[in-house]
Amino acid sequence: MLKFGGSRLAGRLSATVGALALAGTAVLLNSQASPNAALEAAAGTVAQATAPGTATITIVPDGIGWKFDPATTSLAVGGTLTVTNNTTITHTFTSAATGDNGLPLFDVKIASKGTKTITAASALKDGTYGFFCRFHRTMTGTLVIGTGGPVTSPVRYGQPLVQPPRLHGKDVTIVMKKAKVRVMDSGPRTPMWTFGGTFPGPTIVRRAGQDTKVTFVNRLPRKVGAVTIHQHAGHQKSKFDGQPASHLIRHGKKLTYDYPLRDAGEPLPAALRFYHDHRMDKTARNNWFGLQGMFLTTDPRDAKMGLPHGKYDIPLAVTERSFHPDNRLTNPFKHMAGMGGGPGMETLGDRVLVNGRFAPYKRVRPGLYRFQILNSSLFSSYDFALSNGQPFTQIGTGSGLLPHPVVRQDILLGPAQRTDVVVDFRKFAGANVQLQSLLPTGTSDSGIGIMQFRVRGTPAPKFRVPDTLAKIQSYKVPSKIAKTWRFGLNSDNHWTINGKRFNPKRVDHRIPLGSTERWKLVNTSPFTHFIHLHEELWRTLSRDGKRPPPWERGYEDTWRLEPGESVVVAARFTDYTGKFMIHCHMLDHEDDGMMATFDVVKKKR
Ligand code: C2O
Ligand code: CU
Repeated sequence: MLKFGGSRLAGRLSATVGALALAGTAVLLNSQASPNAALEAAAGTVAQATAPGTATITIVPDGIGWKFDPATTSLAVGGTLTVTNNTTITHTFTSAATGDNGLPLFDVKIASKGTKTITAASALKDGTYGFFCRFHRTMTGTLVIGTGGPVTSPVRYGQPLVQPPRLHGKDVTIVMKKAKVRVMDSGPRTPMWTFGGTFPGPTIVRRAGQDTKVTFVNRLPRKVGAVTIHQHAGHQKSKFDGQPASHLIRHGKKLTYDYPLRDAGEPLPAALRFYHDHRMDKTARNNWFGLQGMFLTTDPRDAKMGLPHGKYDIPLAVTERSFHPDNRLTNPFKHMAGMGGGPGMETLGDRVLVNGRFAPYKRVRPGLYRFQILNSSLFSSYDFALSNGQPFTQIGTGSGLLPHPVVRQDILLGPAQRTDVVVDFRKFAGANVQLQSLLPTGTSDSGIGIMQFRVRGTPAPKFRVPDTLAKIQSYKVPSKIAKTWRFGLNSDNHWTINGKRFNPKRVDHRIPLGSTERWKLVNTSPFTHFIHLHEELWRTLSRDGKRPPPWERGYEDTWRLEPGESVVVAARFTDYTGKFMIHCHMLDHEDDGMMATFDVVKKKR
C-alpha cells in the first residue's frame, strides 16, 4: 500500500489500473492513490448520477491580463479536465502541490488557441488543489476534486546543504569548464558548464573596498563560443562590466577583470552580489547550463553591530532547472540557438535548487541566523516564507544594508534580486522549518518546499539586529526626469525598451560623468518585469508616485515592475565613463532584446 500525506497523490508512478466509463467519457485512470481508486471513482458516479465527469476551464482575456474561467472548478474523482486557451499567448496550467518527487502534480503548457486534456487531473484524489500560470502569477484558480479538502506536498529533503568553495584572494583565477556536478540526491551527477568545476561557481568573498582581480579562463566546449562575465551590482570600468558584445573571452582565451569594490573612493556597501555570463543572445542559455556564482563582499562592522556572522551568515543561491530522468539538464534552447523569445518562450525549471542542490536540509542551532538569499533563476520569482509562520527580519537588499530592519512575513524575489534577512530559530529547538515559496493560489497547498532547517543542538551565540543599520547617502537629485525607460512589447511580439530591441551599436542615453540623474522606469506591457540597472548605487525615490516601501529604501539594482507600474530612481555617475546596460533580468526577455545602453561621457567644458 502506498502512503500519501492527507489527500495527496504522487504524480510519478503510473500504474494504469484500468479504464472506466464516466459520464460517457472513457478515462484512463493513472492511479496510485489507492488500488481501489477506480472502484471508488466508479462507485461515486453511481451514487451521484449527475456528478460532472468532465470539466472545462478556459483561459480568457481579463482587462490588460488574463484569467482562468471559471476560477473554481469541480470535478469528480477520475473525471476529465480540459483547458482551452482563448488568448493570443502561451500560458501554463500548473498545480501548486508537488508530488514526493518534487514535481508539480500537473504542469501543462497551452499555446494560444490550443486545448489540452490534463491527464494527471484524472488521477487526483479528493482535495482542493490550487493552480496557477507559471508565466503570469496573477492567474490562479482552484480545482475541487470530489469532496475537496486540504492538500499537502510531501517534499523529501534528501541531501545536506553545501556551500561552493570560497575564494578569498586579491588575485584569483577561475577556469570555466565542463564538469559533472552533484545536483540531485541520487542517480548520476549532472554535466554542466561551470566556473571552476562547481555549480554555482566558487563564492568570491572579499572585504568591501579591497581591489579584487579575477581572471576568467574559457575552457568551455568550443560550441559555447565566447562568453563575458558581469559582476551584478558591481561598480567597475566599462570594459570589466561584462559587455554583451565586446571585450569577450573567446574559446581558449582568458581575461582579467578588475573589481575595485569602491565607489567614489568609499568601499562599496557589503552585500551578496553575483557574477554570471552576459553574452548577447545567449545569456539565458549560458546561465541555465551553469555560468553563475556568488560574490560576497563583507564588512567587519556587521559583526560589531551584533549581526550573525561566521558560520551563522549563510548565502543561499536559489534557482531552478529541469532534468531528464538520467539527471542531465534539459535543453530549452535547442530550437532557438540560444535566442530569447516573446511571451511564452520563457525558461522555467521544474525543480528548485539551493546552492546547486535539489531540496537540501541544513542543521541549525536555536538562535539567530543571517541568510543572504539570491534568486538566480532565469525567469521565475519566489515568494519566500517560513513554514512555521515565523517572519523574516530583513536587514538589507542585494546592494547593501537597509537604513532600518523591516519585519516581513514573506519576501518576493524576482530573477537577480537578493535579500538579506535574519531568522530567529530560538523558540524552535527540535523542529523542522521549511523555507518555502508561496504561490498566489491561496489554497492549503500554496507553499512549495525549497529547503529545510533542522533546529537541533545547543543554543547559537547571542546576536542582535540593531534598529539602525546603514546610512544611505543623501544628495541633491535634480527634480527633472533625465530619462524615461518604457518596457514593452512590439507588434512582432518582441520585448523592447522605448520601442526598440537591443543593438550594441546604438547608445540610448548619454550622461555626463559626475552628474546625478533621476530616471523613470515604466512597465507598459501586461507582463511583470524585473529591471536591472548596471554600475551605480541606485536609490528608489518613489514607486507609483508614492514613497517606496521600507524594504526599497536602501540601495537597489533590480526592481519589480508589475503591469502599469513605475518607479523613479536616482544615482550619481561616479568614477567611470563608458557603456553600461539596462535590461530586464528575465534572461529570455534580455536575450530577446529587452536591453539598452547608457553611456557615461566626459563632461564638456
Ligand atoms: Cu545580472 Cu546585466 O545583469
Ligand atoms: Cu522582462
